[in-house]
Amino acid sequence: MRGLIGLGCLLACLLSAACTQQPLRSDSLYGQLGGEPGITRIVEGMLLRIAGDPRIVDHFQSVDIQRVRDKLIEKFCAEAGGPCVYTGDSMEESHKGLALTPSDFNALVENLQASMTAEAVPIPTQNRLLARLAPMRGQVIDQ
Ligand code: HEM
Repeated sequence: MRGLIGLGCLLACLLSAACTQQPLRSDSLYGQLGGEPGITRIVEGMLLRIAGDPRIVDHFQSVDIQRVRDKLIEKFCAEAGGPCVYTGDSMEESHKGLALTPSDFNALVENLQASMTAEAVPIPTQNRLLARLAPMRGQVIDQ
């Protein structure tokens, strides 16, 4: 009987959202960035800064900025260990033909840092997110 109750609890857990979603742990990078609301504000702040950055704004002139916003939120959320699935194109594919340079990459990172600072994200937390994005550098530039 005990075993049956245990099995019932396990099944209930497996079928419930609480079990399929990762817990919002405040010690996870995702939690430290403020979860999905925090990551949304960080991405939007970064894109607003890019819109005013003459070094790189031209790259974004004719893109579907709503889509880029949505996919960036998914990407950052997934990279930070959040419960998101990235559904966008690969990094190589989405930056193909843009001929991005290391300076372009640095400019985007600066805008991301400024956005995180405005959201009061501590520098060590900022650096944890940047460290997870750094391996994508080679997939983004020179494509
Ligand atoms: C680690 C750094 C970067 C990440 C994680 C990243 C992520 C993304 C994502 C998720 C998308 C959307 C993909 C899709 O539509 O399915 C995207 C598109 C785009 N990214 Fe990046 N990106 C990075 C660096 C850059 C840099 C440095 C620039 C330019 C300065 C840039 C310019 C663009 C542009 C213009 C698009 C839209 C392309 C199009 O729709 O044709 N990205 N990026």
